[in-house]
Amino acid sequence: MKKYFVIGNPIEHSLSPKLHNYWIKKNDIKAIYEKKKLNLEQLKEIILTVKNKEIHGINVTVPFKKEVIRYLDTLTPEAEITQSVNTIYLVGNQIQGHNTDIAGFTLSLREINVNIVNKKILVLGAGGVVPSIIYALNQMKASSICVSNRTKNKAEDLKKLFNNITVINWGEVPDFDVIINATSLGLNDTDDIGLDFSKVKNKLFYDVIYNPQETNFLKKAKYFGNKTVNGKMMFIYQASASFNLWHKTQPEINKEVIALLDK
Ligand code: ATR
Repeated sequence: MKKYFVIGNPIEHSLSPKLHNYWIKKNDIKAIYEKKKLNLEQLKEIILTVKNKEIHGINVTVPFKKEVIRYLDTLTPEAEITQSVNTIYLVGNQIQGHNTDIAGFTLSLREINVNIVNKKILVLGAGGVVPSIIYALNQMKASSICVSNRTKNKAEDLKKLFNNITVINWGEVPDFDVIINATSLGLNDTDDIGLDFSKVKNKLFYDVIYNPQETNFLKKAKYFGNKTVNGKMMFIYQASASFNLWHKTQPEINKEVIALLDK
């Protein structure tokens, strides 16, 4: 029986085990996928168990996507450029880190036929998932990427990875075609991002959050006549990319899979 984990802190709410175990069963694979809450000191030990094949793959979530890098032997170019790893596995005898959040984000836009070429993008937040989003937006040939974060320094730090971004003050809303909420504001129903979008119309509002399904950010955007999308498909696509790497099988994404995340 092969063993897989998602590691993070907190981890209680992760839906990765539900999704992966569903696909494992559907594909008749002898494996189990569990979640594990860790602290920083426990990271090294668990990652090294990939080398002796005690554990066959690890998904990494907040706040360890960068921290795990020091314990890996190799990184894929995507993980290297974003300095963010969410998928770990053994290649030969090397522990490799990859980033499937990039593919997750890209595929979630492709699915709804959104073309990013020459679009002006505003990204809210500078946390763990933002480098992946910026990498994907650059790949998709956005014309400009503005980043706004409450703690401006953290947005400025992203310039070390991506020198084409513009950093603006939290609270400023420049002209944009697509706005992406990558902050944790919205996880609670009462959260309000505190920005005025009353004059914004016919734009795309993307929220990386998928639980709740419709944050206040998306509710307001819809009310003012904008298109909205939540992070559910990004989550499913990043999981399917990890699954494919580990099991060499492309898992099916259908209504039943999507409904798994609604419960
Ligand atoms: P981390 O920053 O540890 O990687 P994250 O969940 O990936 O965690 O990111 C949280 C994001 O939500 C950050 O951009 C954070 O802004 P700060 O860098 O200023 O902390 C943002 N965020 C969280 N609470 C917020 C709030 N009340 N107002 C504005 N932004 C908030």
